Amino acid sequence: MPLVCLTDFEAHAREQLSKSTWDFIEGGADDCLTRDDNIAAFKKIRLRPRYLKDVSKVDMRTTIQGEEISTPICIAPTGFHCLAWPDGEMSTARAAQAAGICYITSTYASCSLEDIVATAPGGLRWFQLYVHPNRQLNKQLIQKVESLGFKALVITVDAPKIGNRRHNITNQVNLMKNLLLKDLGSPEKGNLMPYLQMSPIDSSICWDDLSWFQSITRLPIILKGILTKEDAELAVKHNVHGIIVSNHGGRQLDEVPASIDALTEVVAAVKGKIEVYLDGGIRTGNDVLKALALGAKCVFLGRPILWGLAYKGEHGVEEVLNILKNEFHTSMTLTDGNQLQCERQTRRTPMRPPLTPQF
Ligand code: FNR
Repeated sequence: MPLVCLTDFEAHAREQLSKSTWDFIEGGADDCLTRDDNIAAFKKIRLRPRYLKDVSKVDMRTTIQGEEISTPICIAPTGFHCLAWPDGEMSTARAAQAAGICYITSTYASCSLEDIVATAPGGLRWFQLYVHPNRQLNKQLIQKVESLGFKALVITVDAPKIGNRRHNITNQVNLMKNLLLKDLGSPEKGNLMPYLQMSPIDSSICWDDLSWFQSITRLPIILKGILTKEDAELAVKHNVHGIIVSNHGGRQLDEVPASIDALTEVVAAVKGKIEVYLDGGIRTGNDVLKALALGAKCVFLGRPILWGLAYKGEHGVEEVLNILKNEFHTSMTLTDGNQLQCERQTRRTPMRPPLTPQF
């Protein structure tokens, strides 16, 4: 049976993967309320189609940080792709390159950064950093990614400590014992990371530390994990170049807003001064359209990429991206692609005026 939508890939991955790998990918924090809300919140938003406009040509291209991408659907950083497919991140990088989109490589990539770049040298890549307590290690790593041609530094801010992921705690020894962290930790080769809960992330990092990062790199800095207008304003004040509205796929603090619900206040707070992106719960072309209509410049996919990898490696990721791209094309065509509009369906909130996306 062909897989025709992203949830088909999810069902396939569930059958294909070991229980510990499935739990690692799918798991959220605590009661998984935010993880599930990320998806449910999209379903409360309704589209406002406009007709009798020329939609014979729909252009899905856009730019992020000045670089063109074929469609506003990119790949969020997720760790340990080798759990889902033998050559892991190398497959992901090739699929992203073929699709002409951006792939944010995680600090916890299970392939070396050199191999990821060598296998897809023409791809657009950003690097996601979990800040390590040792400043010199951060500096070495950032300089390395800069010299390898990564085009932006994405600092994840919502993980000063790893959230309570119950399944990982039960499965941890099985899952991580053979994974080598190639780029972070001790500079000696083969540094073993036994499991996620022991990962060294600097929990003391503050807004004022951003200037240090800005002093050691020319890359644009994007903050991933912002959910409030207060932090969005601080991000602008500290001269970062972009924000990814994200709750880490519901894997960090549970019971925070769904990403799509947090997007509007962040977009309003930055007043167009920096680009705003979103991840969390994107599963259909309509979801992409809603995020763009509410002000995101592009969206990023987390779990669906791992489902694609588990299906057929590089070609599975390509299929996931193609399906979503085609769905998004349909959504744009049927709503009037140049004037995306949507509104939230809640009884308490008054209908919001239609919003125009920032292509
Ligand atoms: C993640 N995420 C994540 N984020 C990050 O900044 N660095 C990382 O290494 C990881 N690793 C990771 C592993 C797995 C298995 C998942 C599911 C998620 C979070 C990720 O970037 C993104 O925020 C969410 O996955 C988006 O939600 P969806 O698309 O999975 O619903």
